[in-house]
Amino acid sequence: MYFFVFVFLIVSLVPAQQSVVRNSSTDDPRSNAIGYSCSNETTQSWLDIVFVIDTSDAMSRRNFNALVGQIATFMQPFTFGQTEKHTIRVAVITYGINVVEQYLLTDTTNFENFIDFLFDLSFNLQFDENGANAQGALQEAYYLLLSESSFRNPLIILIAASYDKTGFNGADKTANAIKNNGIHILVINFASSDGVLTNALQKISSPGFYYVSNQDNINSLIPFSLTQINCFCPPGYIQFRYYNTPWKNYTNYAECLFGFSSDTLPTVATRVCKPGILVPITSQTKFDFIADHVLPHELPGKKKFTIGLHKSSSADEEWKWWGYNETEYSLGNYPSMFDIPNKGDNYGYFWNHYGFNWTLQTGNNLELPYICQLRACDAGFICDQTQAKKM
Ligand SMILES: *[C@@H]1O[C@H](CO)[C@@H](O)[C@H](O)[C@H]1NC(C)=O
Ligand SMILES: *[C@@H]1O[C@H](CO)[C@@H](O)[C@H](O)[C@H]1NC(C)=O
Ligand SMILES: *[C@@H]1O[C@H](CO)[C@@H](O)[C@H](O)[C@H]1NC(C)=O
Ligand SMILES: *[C@@H]1O[C@H](CO)[C@@H](O)[C@H](O)[C@H]1NC(C)=O
Ligand SMILES: *[C@@H]1O[C@H](CO)[C@@H](O)[C@H](O)[C@H]1NC(C)=O
Repeated sequence: MYFFVFVFLIVSLVPAQQSVVRNSSTDDPRSNAIGYSCSNETTQSWLDIVFVIDTSDAMSRRNFNALVGQIATFMQPFTFGQTEKHTIRVAVITYGINVVEQYLLTDTTNFENFIDFLFDLSFNLQFDENGANAQGALQEAYYLLLSESSFRNPLIILIAASYDKTGFNGADKTANAIKNNGIHILVINFASSDGVLTNALQKISSPGFYYVSNQDNINSLIPFSLTQINCFCPPGYIQFRYYNTPWKNYTNYAECLFGFSSDTLPTVATRVCKPGILVPITSQTKFDFIADHVLPHELPGKKKFTIGLHKSSSADEEWKWWGYNETEYSLGNYPSMFDIPNKGDNYGYFWNHYGFNWTLQTGNNLELPYICQLRACDAGFICDQTQAKKM
C-alpha cells in the first residue's frame, strides 16, 4: 500500500524521472524508426519477371517502340543474369488475339540483349490483331513462371493498351488465382484513358501496383516497387506493412511477425525466436499493426505479451531492443514506460488492462506469451524460403 503511494508521487510530481529509464541521446536511427526498412537496392534484386505486353492493333509499331524505350529506362538499374544470386531474369509474352511466348526466363543473358530483342520484335510484329486476349496471356505467364521457376521472387508486369470484352472475360478471376499463389501483378495502363480498361486493369493489379505509362516519376516508381515486391516473408508469417491513404499503396517493412500464446520465460522465448528476435516495437504505427493483425491471429484473447525490450547486459544497464544480427539499440521515444522499472526488472511487456488501452510494463522473468520477428527476404538478403512456421 505504502509502496503504491510512493510510486504515484514520483510519477505525478517528477515527470522528468523518465530520463532514468530512457537515454534520449540515442543516435541509432532504429530507436525511432517505424520499422526495419526493406532494401531498395535495385542492383541487388532477385526477381523472375514476365512482361505480358499488348501488341494488338491498339498498340501500333510507333507506340511499341516508345514502350521499349520506357522499359529500357526503368529496367536499366537491375542486374540481369542466370547464375549469380542477386540477379533478375525476364521473359516476354505478347498478346493480341493470339498469345505468343517471345522470350523465356531461361533466355536471359544481359540487359542489352533483352532490349535488342524488344526492338527487333517491334519490326517482326504486324500489330494488326483486332483483339486483346489478356486472360489467356496471364494464364500463359503463370505457367511460364511455374515451369521455369527458380529461387527468385516471381512477378508479372502486364502492359495493356486496349480493352476487349472477350479477351478480358475472366481475367480478374485468373489474376486472383495468380495473386493467391503469392505472385504479384504490376499493371501499366499504356496511356489509354478508356474507363472500362482502367477499371479492368485496377482489378487485375496487386493493390498499390497500378500505373499509367505517362504518369510522373513512373521510371523511378517502378524500380522502387520491384524492390518492395522483392521484400516478402516466407509462408506462415505476417509481414509488417502499412497503407498510405493518400497514394493508395502499401509500404512494406523487412519484418516477419509470429507469436506463441503459451506462457514462456523471456530468456527462453529469445531462443525460440531464433534466427529471429523478440519483437521490437518502436512506433505507434507498428503497435497498431500488431494489435490489428498479429494479436487476433497469433495470441487471441491474451492480455499481456513479452516484447524485445530488455535491460542490456552491457555495463550501462540501459533498456534496449535487439536488432537483427545480435545487435542492440536503445529505447527511443516510443513506447513510454508507464512506471519506473523496479531494480530487478529485466524484460518489457505490453499489458492490456482495459478496453484498447495497452501500456508498456516491465517485470522480472515473467512467463508470458510473446511475439517474435524474423528478418524478411529482400533485395539485399536472400533468405531461407523453406523456413516454415510452427505446424
Ligand atoms: C546515452 O548513450 C550514449 C551512447 O551509448 C552514451 O555515450 C551516454 O553516456 C548515454 N547517456 C546517458 C545519460 O546514459
Ligand atoms: C534507399 O534507402 C536509403 C536508406 O534507407 C535511403 O537513404 C534512400 O533515400 C533510399 N532511396 C530511394 C530511392 O528510396
Ligand atoms: C506510393 O506512392 C507514392 C506516390 O506515388 C510513392 O512516392 C511511393 O514510393 C509509393 N510507395 C510504394 C511502396 O510503392
Ligand atoms: C548480418 O550478418 C550477415 C553475415 O555476417 C551479413 O551478410 C548481413 O549483411 C548482416 N545483416 C545486417 C542487417 O547487418
Ligand atoms: C490508459 O490507462 C492509463 C491508466 O489507467 C491512463 O492514464 C491513460 O490515460 C489511458 N489511456 C487511454 C488512451 O485511455
